[in-house]
Amino acid sequence: MRKFMFLFIAAILLATVAYATDSQIWGNMRLTNILEYGKENSLHLGPLFVKLQSQYFYKIFFGILIGVPFVFFLHYLIVGPKVFSHGGVKIYAFSAFKRIIHLFAVIAFVIIVPTGLMIVFGKYLGGGTIIEYARHLHGLATILFTISVIPMFLFWFKDMLPTSDDIKWMFILGGYLSKEIKEIPAGKFNAGQKMWFWVATLGGIVMIITGAFMYLQDFDYGIAKLFGISQIDLLRATAITHNVLAFVVMALFFTHIYMSLFAIKGAVHSIITGYKEEEEVKYLHSTWYKKLKKEKKI
Ligand code: HEM
Repeated sequence: MRKFMFLFIAAILLATVAYATDSQIWGNMRLTNILEYGKENSLHLGPLFVKLQSQYFYKIFFGILIGVPFVFFLHYLIVGPKVFSHGGVKIYAFSAFKRIIHLFAVIAFVIIVPTGLMIVFGKYLGGGTIIEYARHLHGLATILFTISVIPMFLFWFKDMLPTSDDIKWMFILGGYLSKEIKEIPAGKFNAGQKMWFWVATLGGIVMIITGAFMYLQDFDYGIAKLFGISQIDLLRATAITHNVLAFVVMALFFTHIYMSLFAIKGAVHSIITGYKEEEEVKYLHSTWYKKLKKEKKI
């Protein structure tokens, strides 16, 4: 574990130095490359990009920021949380390694999401140095996310493959629209959790790549040429993808927080201690519970 922590800190330091150096080169390269903008192989994404960027993106982000928590607030008032006994048998679900990797993702997202919103609403927050810092923090936290997303993808991949339970779960929306406690069809992870996993990992990787393209595009003129488009179009296409995917990631991130902290009382303990409550597993992950019983693991 100590070796892992050492490697991790070294990686962060290296990336930080690279990031700081890159920023200076970035400015100089932009001056050279700007002369090439839009001259050849244009997809003519300009008008669409300007329209989306100036009229739609910030409104959609605002809608998600206010709308999603509001819907959950109503859910909490009307349906209320699911409460399970915390006094029974505990079921070991998450190893220390998984919990630490998850913690890296938590720290990364707690920085990435607010700083991303600061960049979106930069104009309304007065712009300037504070937004410039937000941009740098956004990039630095992405390095931490990049370190966490690969192991997270690998260790949960198998459990996240679709099963017939997922279709049944979707039809009843996981039972979250009713107060009734009954057995819900789900393995170790339910369809909602699987959706979050795929969006957070594969979607997260696309966010990293599009973010890196936006950051690096002035560096290497060859990248855009590989796609047969102009450099400014590559920037526009990656910016549009980054924003649209950010809507989905942000909405599901808020959902994940609501589920872990509010909708299922005390669920957050599982990712801190590694143990889930027997009653919670019995009802919300009934297929996994039956499997554990059959294998005499409980
Ligand atoms: C404040 C932020 C967060 C909290 C409170 C939180 C909490 C939790 C909890 C309690 C679980 C275990 C769920 C269970 O009992 O089955 C979990 C699982 C998981 N978390 Fe997080 N998490 C947070 C942020 C993140 C982030 C940023 C990512 C990825 C980018 C992430 C990805 C996952 C995934 C893929 C799982 C397994 C599937 C699932 O349970 O949804 N989490 N998280």
